[in-house]
Parts: sequence; C-alpha cells; structure tokens
Amino acid sequence: MSDLQGKKVVVIGGCGHVGLPLGVKFALAGAETTLVDINKDSVDSVMNGNFPFLEHGGDEQLHLALRMGLKASTEKSVCAGADIMVFVIGTPVDEHLNPKLSDVLKIFDAYREFFTPELLVVMRSTLFPGTMEHLSERLKAQGIKTKLAFCPERVSQGYALDEIDSLPQIVSSFDEESFKSAYEVFRCLAPSVIRLTPLEAEMTKLMANSWRYLEFAIANQFYMIAEQSGIDFYRVFDAIRYDYPRASGYKAPGFAAGPCLFKDTMQLASFFNNQFYLGHSAMLVNEGLAEFTVAKVTNCLDGNLWGKTVGLLGMAFKPDNDDIRESLSFRVKKALEFAGANVIWHDPYLADSTDLDQVLTQSEAIIMCTPHKAYRTINFNCPVIDVWGVSGRPQLEVLPGTESVEKVRKVI
Ligand SMILES: NC(=O)c1ccc[n+]([C@@H]2O[C@H](COP(=O)([O-])OP(=O)(O)OC[C@H]3O[C@@H](n4cnc5c(N)ncnc54)[C@H](O)[C@@H]3O)[C@@H](O)[C@H]2O)c1
Repeated sequence: MSDLQGKKVVVIGGCGHVGLPLGVKFALAGAETTLVDINKDSVDSVMNGNFPFLEHGGDEQLHLALRMGLKASTEKSVCAGADIMVFVIGTPVDEHLNPKLSDVLKIFDAYREFFTPELLVVMRSTLFPGTMEHLSERLKAQGIKTKLAFCPERVSQGYALDEIDSLPQIVSSFDEESFKSAYEVFRCLAPSVIRLTPLEAEMTKLMANSWRYLEFAIANQFYMIAEQSGIDFYRVFDAIRYDYPRASGYKAPGFAAGPCLFKDTMQLASFFNNQFYLGHSAMLVNEGLAEFTVAKVTNCLDGNLWGKTVGLLGMAFKPDNDDIRESLSFRVKKALEFAGANVIWHDPYLADSTDLDQVLTQSEAIIMCTPHKAYRTINFNCPVIDVWGVSGRPQLEVLPGTESVEKVRKVI
C-alpha cells in the first residue's frame, strides 16, 4: 500500500500543465486529491474527464483518477484539513525580465489560514533562487509553523504523465522533519529522490533550463551564420554529426520559445545581477531567429512583402503540442503583418486554424514555424523557410574510404 493512501492532498494551480498531471498521479497513488484552480473552464473540463490541454495519454489516466475520487474546485475552502498542500502556479518574469515574485508571495499568504504544524507545504513551481528562504523567513516572522519543502517539477510539457513516473525527483527543505515528509510523498511517485538544499534545488532547475536554452541558441546562431553566407546550414550540420560521436548531442536549430526556457534563463540572469552574458546573448539569438526568417521570406518574395500572402505552419511553441504560450510564431506573424503581408496560418492542434490545403495553395511563401509531424511529408509548391530542416534536406555526400578498420590495423 502506498504511503499516500488516504492522505488528503490539495494542488493549488491544479488544473495547469504541471498541476494536473501531478494531481492525477496523486489520485492514482491512492491520495484523496483535490485540484484547486481559479480557472473555472479548466476545473469544469477536468471534472468532465477532459484535459484542458494536450497531454499524451492524459484523458485515460484522468478518467481513472476521477473514478478513484479525484476532484477539482475553484473553492479554496477545500484545503481545510489537508495533509499535503502543493503550490504549482506560474512564475513568470515581468516586463523588465525580472522575476514576478509577487504572485508566489500573494498565493502563499492567501492560503496561510490553512497552514498547521502537521501540514506539508510543497512548492512545485520553478522558483527564483532565494524564494524558499524568503518564504521560510516569512512564516517565522508571522509565527506560523508548518512543514515546508521545495520539489521542483522537471517534466517536458505534454509528456508529464510518463516523466513523473520515470524522472528522479529533487526534494529539498530546511529541516529534517519537512524533508522526511516530502521524501515519503515523492518516493511513492518517482523512481529515486535526490536530496538538495532549497537554494541548490532552485539553482538546479534554472541552470537545467538555461543550459537547454543556450544549446538551442548556439545551433540557431550557427544556422544564421551559415545561411547568411549563402550556405545550406544542413550540409554543415549533417557533416558535423555524421559518424562523429563528439557531436551526437549537437542540437538542430529551431524556434526556442515557450513558457519556461526563456523566463528561466532571465530569472538566472536577474539572480546573477544581469552578468549572465551567455543567457542574455542566447535570448537575443533565439528571439532574433524570428526576424531572421522574416528577412529570408522577404528575400524570397523580391524584397517586398506588401500585399503578399505568407503562410505559417504551426503556431504552438513546440511540435505536436497545442500550447501557444510565448510561441515565436506570433512574433513572426506580427513582423510579417507590419511589413504589409497577408498572413494565413495552420496548426492541427488549434481550433481556429485555417484549412491546411488553403494555406498550401494560397501562400506565395511559407515559414515552417513548428515542425508538427503532420508537416513532414508535404510536397510544397512555393518557397519554404524551414529552420528546422524537416521539409527536405540536402543529401550529404559520403564516399567510401578504407574498407575496414581491421585492414588498416594490419597495415600499421
Ligand atoms: N509547463 C511545463 O511543462 C513546466 C515544466 C516544469 C516546470 N514548470 C513550472 O511550473 C509552474 C507552473 O507552470 P504551468 O505551465 O503549469 O502553468 P499553467 O499556467 O499551465 O498553470 C498554472 C495554473 O495555476 C492556476 N492559478 C493561477 N493563479 C491561481 C490562484 N491564485 N489560485 C489557484 N490557481 C491559480 C491557473 O489558472 C493555471 O491553471 C511554473 O513555475 C513553471 O515554470 C512548468
């Protein structure tokens, strides 16, 4: 029997991309789970058995979780008597690219009436370094005793249900009692648990996301350098990677956007007093790729976009997902429209999409914004700007060399 059996768990922000998969897992592990969310549409959707966004394998596990008693509510009163309270609200950066700490502080205060010495409060959002210490000190200053842990989520959007089961879980706290309680919770969900201090855990999450953002940035920078020089980048890319183990992790270029990588890189930059030069450079490169594709399409259309029809394929921030948060497709769309183009777009995951055939036949040029699987077999009849290299790549010329390594060894 799982240690979560019969435990009363509430997940605040429970109908979001991170909260809902986690809540489903709690319910499946036998916890009496309630998701609290201010978004009534999402709450209704969950109670009707539908994930409000695309999560692979989501609805089946949700149905099972609902049968096991999972509930969703907009009422915070459901938190009374909880054993475990998990906070998973968004932690964005503000218009100056600094962390918007007020959201976390506000929600913490809004729920403190439920905090008791027996309760375990788990922060699950990605946090600006030092937030946990601030929260801990805040509780002390208010004379409130409760167990407090930071256990950041590290899943890839859309695949959370699989990854919660398979990824090691980071658990951190300031005291032994809180750690023990949080460990008892997460050892029921994850294959292993890594213990860190809260500051280490905050940093781990931000550095992991910033590293990914930088990896994409170097690929994007190389893409722009090659294409600017009149070279097809993918000939270089394939040559670098062909049978060359040291380059096996070399990322392909593409729009690097979405609700996490950009803002987490900026949080780390803000924490390091804006001296994280690589982070800011990565932001300039990754965001600048949008304008680069607009310049390329302008070139294809005789240097003038006014009155031309340009098609965009994919508006979500990542392939085979329906999430448009911080998607660069919209940056591209805005720039094209400002230059006078008539923009039409398709995305198989969005209800208000234009028909794909219409986009393919009416466009004078197309930008592949998101490489959804559905786009990989299209034969295009107009120029395509495809940073991702999914719509056809040049064949790498590889000629036979020494017949076998053995033969060479014999000669030596
Ligand atoms: N999206 C991901 O794949 C991912 C992965 C790892 C970590 N994270 C981190 O997890 C956190 C949450 O991200 P997300 O993508 O799930 O965000 P989200 O916007 O999808 O979910 C947040 C949810 O919180 C709800 N909410 C907001 N204010 C509330 C309040 N006062 N009371 C109750 N509910 C409230 C919203 O309605 C929403 O449903 C962020 O810190 C993010 O960086 C996200």
